Amino acid sequence: MKIRKAVFPVAGLGTRFLPATKAMPKEMLPLVDKPIIQYAVEEALASGIEEIIFVTGKGKSALEDHFDRSYQLENMLRERHKDLLLKIVASVVPTTGTIVYTRQNEPLGLGHAIWCARNIIGDEPFAVLLADDVIQSDVPVLAQMMDQFDRLRASIVAIEEVNPADTSRYGIVDPVGALDDVVRIRGLVEKPKQEDAPSNLAIIGRYILTPRIFDILGKGIVGAGNEIQVTDAMSILLEKQPIFGFRFEGKRFDCGDKAGWQMANLAFSLERPELRGELLPFLEQTMMSNGMLRN
Ligand code: G1P
Repeated sequence: MKIRKAVFPVAGLGTRFLPATKAMPKEMLPLVDKPIIQYAVEEALASGIEEIIFVTGKGKSALEDHFDRSYQLENMLRERHKDLLLKIVASVVPTTGTIVYTRQNEPLGLGHAIWCARNIIGDEPFAVLLADDVIQSDVPVLAQMMDQFDRLRASIVAIEEVNPADTSRYGIVDPVGALDDVVRIRGLVEKPKQEDAPSNLAIIGRYILTPRIFDILGKGIVGAGNEIQVTDAMSILLEKQPIFGFRFEGKRFDCGDKAGWQMANLAFSLERPELRGELLPFLEQTMMSNGMLRN
């Protein structure tokens, strides 16, 4: 069975970026010149996803507008012969009907947000992308995972080794056997303290899940942070079905974090020839004046 649908939980409040996110969704923060959310949407479409489900909330209408046509803007660009910009603006919008929207009307957690998409997903395996995790890679990470799914036919989560002191920021998996690119998982725990963590392998925001997860999420079991956690639901799913961790190829940036977002901006800017030339000398100068580089 093919993975056709992807859920994007985008109802979060973005408090870590206040006041920037007071009147603007955090997913609209720019990475160079595209909003964060666009990277994940492009990744999903490039991986062959046919239907994108945004689980939104109050104050998120900018997301809907971003992925819609703007005739006024397009006409203005056309009249001014700004052909390249016109092309860029038009290319943001997927074919009509590709994106559907549903709402999470209560902030009950990531697991609950995913559950809100259950009727749109139906009875088929699906992907979940957390837009905060932006991944620079040659092959889109979701495509890498879909290849693994073709082979494994089971739920898969993207994993990455993190600093053991940071386990309390992530879902952490307990792998079976030696560390390989694909590992079988025997346990998962959401945001454990370093001393309670079964490993330093963190869940990164890309999942392929079987629809059975909805039955478990529907029970509304409250876990870490007093929220319904998809990590907890997966640890119950493990009793019935295997789950694998996949160490993807790519560099991940946590754009839900101020430092991570700055790093992503730098990394993606340095890939742009028109920005690289100006940025590199500035970086060198800044590092020198901070005593990190010598003349
Ligand atoms: C969520 C998940 C967590 C995962 C993380 C990846 O946490 O609950 O298991 O490790 O995304 O970004 P959040 O960052 O939403 O607190």
